[in-house]
Amino acid sequence: MNQDSSKEKILIVDDFPASVRILANKLAEDYQVFTATSGSEALDIIHSEQPDLILLDIMMPVMDGYELCRILKQDERFHNIPVIFVTARAEEENEEKGLALGAVDYLVKPVSAAIVKARVRTHLELKRHREHLEKMVEERTHELNKTLKLLQAKKESEFRQTAEIHSGRLSALGEMATSMAHEINQPLNVISITVQGWQLLHRRGLLTMEKMLHDVQVLLDNVSRITRLIDHVRTLGHPSQDIGNFYLQDVVKDALSLCRMQFLNHGITINLDIDDNVPPVKAVQSEFEQVLLNLLSNSRYALAEKKEGDASFEPAVNIAVCRKDDKVCLAIEDNGGGIEPMAEENIFEPFFTTKPVGQGTGLGLSISRQLMLKFDGDLLLINSPGQGARFEILMPG
Ligand SMILES: Nc1ncnc2c1ncn2[C@@H]1O[C@H](COP(=O)(O)OP(=O)(O)OP(=O)(O)O)[C@@H](O)[C@H]1O
Ligand SMILES: [Mg+2]
Repeated sequence: MNQDSSKEKILIVDDFPASVRILANKLAEDYQVFTATSGSEALDIIHSEQPDLILLDIMMPVMDGYELCRILKQDERFHNIPVIFVTARAEEENEEKGLALGAVDYLVKPVSAAIVKARVRTHLELKRHREHLEKMVEERTHELNKTLKLLQAKKESEFRQTAEIHSGRLSALGEMATSMAHEINQPLNVISITVQGWQLLHRRGLLTMEKMLHDVQVLLDNVSRITRLIDHVRTLGHPSQDIGNFYLQDVVKDALSLCRMQFLNHGITINLDIDDNVPPVKAVQSEFEQVLLNLLSNSRYALAEKKEGDASFEPAVNIAVCRKDDKVCLAIEDNGGGIEPMAEENIFEPFFTTKPVGQGTGLGLSISRQLMLKFDGDLLLINSPGQGARFEILMPG
């Protein structure tokens, strides 16, 4: 037979070899042809050659054509191979039985080679089309699954980001609550001392109207300082604020009003270098302030840590608002220990922290950076190991 391997393979199964020889020779002009004279021989060839089409005689001893066809249709490796029954019997019920078993066609002997060739060609063509379609469907399904997985991953990461932003907001709020206590304490002390002074003077009969009028202004100033603080925290704690234009110097002022006392209590000097000509930025002010508070809190921690090991150390934080090329820059620089060179590439990773368990979430910088990127800005580190760290918030100017 012609065994040109680029050609499609036809298996002819017939227990009477002479009857297929002519047919086989004719088909061999266009296909690779294999012949088998029994069902079991046919199965061997099917396993080894995986033919593209089978011409199958029905009447064979031991395993007849129907039986072989049934076996093939139940095996998912072979059930797609088109089977054409070729038989001497022409009764209609045989034809029906063959087709019901999954055969694609039914030829009655004696068959003309031309007709067999035409049918074989047609069914091979149909098989090719079907395989092409199946491949297309498989590819599309694969693509769809890929897109679906991507979308799911994107959704999950968005969900995680929102959760992180919220938990970061909460930890910033927790931090602020402590700062708030410090900040409110001071004006409360002033109020308390003033009122106690009045009581003392009153007992001694020395309390004058002038003194009271003078002190009332001090009391009112301190009350309004507390009110401002509370108002401020109320807006800061609000999760969804609108985007707007604001000045970085205002953000600095607001953040410091919340944490200045804590810095002073730690003996940290705060130096301000504000360029008033810097234009406003567009973002959500409260989120911006959260970033600044995160950075200040990191600096305070690093400075306190350094001070613990060296009592003569003079901790300081420099806060600058300036222009940097075509950007607007808010820089926070401390003279603490800086960041270990090995940790430098990790500090913006979520959950990276060098603080002891329970003291840091490791989310501060990662959330801060995400927030800045959201506003088309950026957050950069300029590190001097052993001598301090500088963080720059850069926004479009
Ligand atoms: N100013 C700084 N000086 C020295 N190291 C710093 C400074 N800022 C950040 N780091 C380092 O970067 C790490 C990550 O900071 P990040 O703010 O993301 O988390 P954290 O401060 O550890 O935790 P949390 O913000 O929840 O308190 C810190 O643990 C610290 O090692
Ligand atoms: Mg932090």
